[in-house]
Amino acid sequence: MNLSIKNIKEADCVCDALILPFTDGESGLYSNISPSVARLIRRLFSKEFRGRQNELLLVPAPEDIAPGRLFLAGLGKREEISREGMRNAGGRAVVYLRDMGIKKIALSTRIMETLKLSPADFIEGALLGLYTFNKYVRNKEEKTIRSITVLSKGSKVLKDSLRWTETVTSAVNFARDLINTPANDMTPSHLAGVALSLKRKHLSVKILEKKDAGRLGMGAYLSVTRGSDQQPKFIVIHYKGSKNSPIVLIGKSVTFDSGGLSLKPADGMEKMKYDMAGGAAVLGVFKAVAELSLPVNLVGILPAAENLIGGSASKPGDVVKACNGKTIEIISTDAEGRMTLADAIAYAGRFKPRAVIDIATLTGACSIALGNGAIAMMGNDRELIDKFKISGHNTYERVWEMPLFKEYKEYLKSDIADLKNTGGKSGSLASSAYFLYEFAGAAPWVHLDIAGTAWVEKERPYLPKGASGIGVRLILNLLKEIK
Ligand code: BES
Ligand code: MN
Ligand code: ZN
Repeated sequence: MNLSIKNIKEADCVCDALILPFTDGESGLYSNISPSVARLIRRLFSKEFRGRQNELLLVPAPEDIAPGRLFLAGLGKREEISREGMRNAGGRAVVYLRDMGIKKIALSTRIMETLKLSPADFIEGALLGLYTFNKYVRNKEEKTIRSITVLSKGSKVLKDSLRWTETVTSAVNFARDLINTPANDMTPSHLAGVALSLKRKHLSVKILEKKDAGRLGMGAYLSVTRGSDQQPKFIVIHYKGSKNSPIVLIGKSVTFDSGGLSLKPADGMEKMKYDMAGGAAVLGVFKAVAELSLPVNLVGILPAAENLIGGSASKPGDVVKACNGKTIEIISTDAEGRMTLADAIAYAGRFKPRAVIDIATLTGACSIALGNGAIAMMGNDRELIDKFKISGHNTYERVWEMPLFKEYKEYLKSDIADLKNTGGKSGSLASSAYFLYEFAGAAPWVHLDIAGTAWVEKERPYLPKGASGIGVRLILNLLKEIK
């Protein structure tokens, strides 16, 4: 798909469909495209179309202008339009046009100018909404949009923001591809290969093998991998775009979570291929950061493993030792994410990080508490937490802070080890975060639980079913603001 900016009049734009976004009841904005367009819009506004939110109308264009069709897209009431409204409108509009077999689209940006909103949000929704995952389908649908032309003078600000949007949405879609890929293909080794493919100037990748992790004493992480024939891969990525001390991003990368011997119910288990959505988001962030040459120093850690039930699998009651020396009694082998993250977070300490951020499909309790409405967030650093709240607001990948009260430590008391790996059902969203907190040490740290938001059951205008790719935009927006 080709995205470009062109400084030409709407009437002169050769395309299959010209998108004209309308606010509710305001018909006059496009009157000076041509008298024929003015007449047509006036007629349509008497009956078929009013500019209400979600209203869409595709009509043949008058013959005296270049576009083949006009596509009227309703944005709703002027005073209620938001950035998220623009994203939704963008997703809804282009998906409709694609399904109608339209190939070449142009977008009039007059309304964005009058509303003081950037066309980039509309385009963001469009590029995210158009995502499909058809790698495994033999007879692929041929319906694809070939080009989107943004009609505008093309200021530097707009050019920069469209470049940002294009790079970021492509990183989100890259993460979605990784997550949607079934676990028989998306193994820890495959994930390591994907990380290696990101290598370029300023971006290096190191893969720690099982024996390396063993030498480092990562008994918590390794306990998860024992039941699988797939080799674990502890993936470390470093992007050095500045001399500051690094920000470490850790993504849960359990390529399949059967629960281990604490086996999950069969119903819905197929979805546990998305248990590496945190790791995919981290890889998406690195892809975009490198392409945009952001001036940040970033380390990524993906402790990749598959949680199965082979003959050497860890058993409830086993005690293992993490690389910081803490011992953990495994109560449930299904609380595996925190085992992998415990070693990753402790390992992050060696980079003397200015911030550690982990992102993980960590608990079912997260989706019980918040559904798909928000990421659950906990952390030990007020400033970092507040930055995430702002970034969540900007991107609509919203976060909601949950408590990390010291009382949750009680939940994790073991009779025979330093900690146990679950505190039981009640309070499991909070106690899981508290478990991670025990490994963060003094570093400013934030935990993002994306169990409720990483997978889309009911599609939305720019969120097709399947992997959402959540976290990529949230973290990139945060990195953009960090100096
Ligand atoms: N990967 C799951 C969490 C999960 C559940 C993510 C549903 C997405 C959808 C995680 O490893 C897990 O199994 N957590 C357990 C922890 C429990 C045993 C303390 C859970 O939340 O049930
Ligand atoms: Mn689990
Ligand atoms: Zn899991």
